[in-house]
Amino acid sequence: MRGQQHRNRVGAVVLLGLPGSGKGTQAGRLAAALGVPSISTGELLRRETEKGTALGHSVREIMARGQLVSDELVTRVLAAHLCSSSFRNGFVLDGYPRTVAQARLLGQLLEKREFGAPRVLYLDVTAEEVKARLANRVECPVCGATYGTVKDLAARGGVCEKDGSKLAHRLDDNAESILERFRQYELNTKPLIAYYEARSLMRVMADGSPDEVFGRILNSLTAVDRHAAHGLKSTRIMVAASVAG
Ligand code: AP5
Ligand code: MG
Repeated sequence: MRGQQHRNRVGAVVLLGLPGSGKGTQAGRLAAALGVPSISTGELLRRETEKGTALGHSVREIMARGQLVSDELVTRVLAAHLCSSSFRNGFVLDGYPRTVAQARLLGQLLEKREFGAPRVLYLDVTAEEVKARLANRVECPVCGATYGTVKDLAARGGVCEKDGSKLAHRLDDNAESILERFRQYELNTKPLIAYYEARSLMRVMADGSPDEVFGRILNSLTAVDRHAAHGLKSTRIMVAASVAG
């Protein structure tokens, strides 16, 4: 019975990609489709800075410069968050892991929860495309909702449609910090592609509209699950297929 329960769990799905590749945009959709929560380590850290906690103070400057928070600290924040029972069936991870050391730590976290290896989706998009996206992005400093275009911002009168807060550019969405985030990605995160390619990487073309990208993500997951299940229909396959269809 316990084994059966474990088989039906969604497990961990990781979204990997350049800053602005659409990790946050797709994490919410995917989590809703799979019926599990999504977690953005960037969001968790930003929440700490907004609350003005000691942890928030210690990471604020690092994040504003576009550098990476230490593996130890970000993993501690993630692990504390994962203690909630809402993650028992699985979760979608946006922005973690970002270094090979974090990938190993994630492996240990998952093992403790008796989850299998994560399914990793690499959102593949050009640097030119994501730079344009980041230049246009504004978000709600209270709920984290993201709005993609200048037109979007004007149409909404500059306020969040969910809670009416004034929308703003993210502190790290300036030319200098974006450059540093790209540098950090090349140096620390890109090696994860090879790391997971040897295990469980699915490459998804992340150009086109958010709906098109989401369709590709679901197709990739469905194909891999079908393969893994050897013809057995699992809950997660049915969820993904029903959304894709
Ligand atoms: P984080 O918040 O994760 O930022 P990031 O990796 O730089 O990625 P972004 O959030 O900028 O982009 P995204 O891929 O989510 O794209 P989005 O969907 O918003 O991390 C911030 C910082 O926190 C790090 O720099 C670091 O300091 C720290 N940190 C976090 N995790 C850490 C870790 N594990 N280790 C160490 N430090 C860590 O899309 C971007 C824009 O494009 C939006 O406006 C969106 O509407 C639009 N868009 C999305 N998809 C499309 C599409 N298909 N077509 C057109 N527009 C689109
Ligand atoms: Mg994001």
